[in-house]
Amino acid sequence: MRRKLVVGNWKMHGNRASNAELLAGILGARPFACDVGVCVPFVYVADTAVSLATSEIRWGAQDVSAQEQGAFTGEVSAAMLRELGCRYAIVGHSERRAHHAEGDQLVADKAKAALGHGLTPIVCVGETLEQREAGQTEVVVKRQLSAVIHALGHCAGEMVVAYEPVWAIGTGRTATPEQAQAVHAVLRAQLRAATSQADTMKILYGGSVKPDNAARLFAQADIDGGLIGGAALKASDFVTICRAAG
Ligand code: PGA
Repeated sequence: MRRKLVVGNWKMHGNRASNAELLAGILGARPFACDVGVCVPFVYVADTAVSLATSEIRWGAQDVSAQEQGAFTGEVSAAMLRELGCRYAIVGHSERRAHHAEGDQLVADKAKAALGHGLTPIVCVGETLEQREAGQTEVVVKRQLSAVIHALGHCAGEMVVAYEPVWAIGTGRTATPEQAQAVHAVLRAQLRAATSQADTMKILYGGSVKPDNAARLFAQADIDGGLIGGAALKASDFVTICRAAG
C-alpha cells in the first residue's frame, strides 16, 4: 500500500509570527502516520528550514525556475531551494497557469529543473469548470501530465502528481470522492503506460480539502493524500487532515 502524503500549500499567506505558530502547532501534533510537508512562500523557506530541521516534516516551495542560473530577475532556482533543504517544489499550480500564463511546456521544464537538483516536483493538473462541462476533463489533464512525462523521461516515476480541479480550488466546492477517484484512475493509467513505478507513485487530490471531507477522499483507491490550501493555514485543521490520511 502507498504511504499517504499531505502537503500544505500556504500560497501568499502568513508572516513570521503566524508561520512560527502554525509550524509549532504541526510539530506539536507529531507523530503522523502519513508523510507531511509544507510549501511556503520563497522568503520563508529559510525560517521554515530552521523550524523543521530536526523533524520529519518536509518543506518546499510553491514554484521554481526552469532556468539553471543567470540573468533571470525575480526567479529562484532549484539549486537554491535544494541548498535550503527543500524536498518539494509545486509546479503548474492553476493559479500560476492562469495568472502567470504558464503553459504545459514551461511547467514540464520546471519539473525537470526541480528533479535535476533533487527536489520532488509536485505537478498540478486540473480542468476548469468550462472544460469539465464540455466533457474535456480527461483530455485536459492527460495533456498537462503528458508534457511532464515526456520532459522527465525515465525519471517520470519520481514526480508527485496533484489533481486539482480548478473549480474546486478555494471555492468550498470539493470534487466528490467518486469524481476525484475517476480522474485519479485516468492519471494512474497514463502513468502506468509511461513508467513501471506508476503503482508506487503518489497522486494527491487538491481543491477545498477540509477536516470534514478529507477521510472520504483519502479512502479512494487512487487518492494518495492531499495538497491543502486554505485548511493548511490553521494548525488544528491541517493536523486533522493529516490524521485522516493516517
Ligand atoms: P484550497 O487550495 O484547499 O484552498 O482549495 C488547494 C490548492 O490550491 O492547492
